[in-house]
Amino acid sequence: MRMDGVLKLYFGESNLPTPDYIKRAAAAALEEGYTYYTQNAGLPGLRCDLAAHYAKLQGVTLDPDSEIVVTASGVQALNVAIRCVLDPGDEALVLTPAWPNGSAIVRMDNAAPVEIPLTLRDDRYAVDFDALEAARTSRTRLLVYTSPSNPLGWVATEEEQARLLAFARRHGLWLLADEVYDRLYYRTPELGTPAPSILRQATRDDAVLVSQSFSKTYCMTGWRLGWLVARRDVAERATLLNEFIISHATSFIQRAAQVALVQGEDELRRMLARLRDNRDFCLAALRQMPGVTLPSPDGAFYVFPKIAGLTDSFAFCLRLLQETKVGIAPGVAFGEGGEGSVRICYAAERSILEPAMERLGRFLERAWV
Ligand SMILES: Cc1ncc(COP(=O)(O)O)c(C=O)c1O
Repeated sequence: MRMDGVLKLYFGESNLPTPDYIKRAAAAALEEGYTYYTQNAGLPGLRCDLAAHYAKLQGVTLDPDSEIVVTASGVQALNVAIRCVLDPGDEALVLTPAWPNGSAIVRMDNAAPVEIPLTLRDDRYAVDFDALEAARTSRTRLLVYTSPSNPLGWVATEEEQARLLAFARRHGLWLLADEVYDRLYYRTPELGTPAPSILRQATRDDAVLVSQSFSKTYCMTGWRLGWLVARRDVAERATLLNEFIISHATSFIQRAAQVALVQGEDELRRMLARLRDNRDFCLAALRQMPGVTLPSPDGAFYVFPKIAGLTDSFAFCLRLLQETKVGIAPGVAFGEGGEGSVRICYAAERSILEPAMERLGRFLERAWV
């Protein structure tokens, strides 16, 4: 972090600043007096806009009063969701490689994460349902997965979602889907179509929870705003719990987020076009490099190449950084199944990506293989 001149591809955020129309909306909200306490579940207007968004983009009907809780970030949504459904001593199945916070929050609740790696078949990761069945015990209460995935870019198919839901129903488990990257999805001909939410397949009585965020879709990482969709009983608990953690997300930021939801589609599509080009550029560059196996990423803004013979991805990334000033994330940071790969975040300018890919290629040729 202290080294100068590093080509930084290790963080999970875009280099783009928050769009001006959102910044202006926040300033206007301050002027309009959104400086007071609001409801623990968030501004009613924002919850209504979120429900309208689900109706339009996912074809899902949600009750804004009882099934949506606004949180101060995606990670806070994950935190309250997990906290509401686990008791000390419980176990949670977590599909990995994954952003490590899910497993960490399970541990913070004195429960045990049991990480189940996705398996790489040809160029696609897939859920290992046999491993899930084998790992379940009488203490298992929760299954957590992330789609689109950080770090894989993997997106669960609707068939995989149906089987995850069936597994959760069969064993009486909570199913928590982290869908913070749902709008960063490149498989459909028209950019802006979201990855399908698990909510399309669940009924409102299912034990299903979805954590969400404004961070990635609207370049609002520093603003700290997200939401949780949950069955009524959990949404009610999460609302109560919010009181003792943050009480509620910042009022004027919630107001700005309403504007993002209503006005953000054109800007989002421009960002997606740029991200898809970046992804294709990185994939083409990585395909030329020796010893690289490349799972095809359909969402988020990461590629997760596997490097032949790599057994210490941390040492690899450190040497790459020291010798070439390219900063990428070691696969080992993402739990079971992550070692042997590295994560590259391609949400950066081409003036960073191009030299970074060139240096990585030369490093692999010279020093690694
Ligand atoms: C999978 C996943 N979930 C949640 C988050 C958290 O997002 P937020 O900034 O809203 O806390 C991240 C951030 O990197 C993430 O990768």
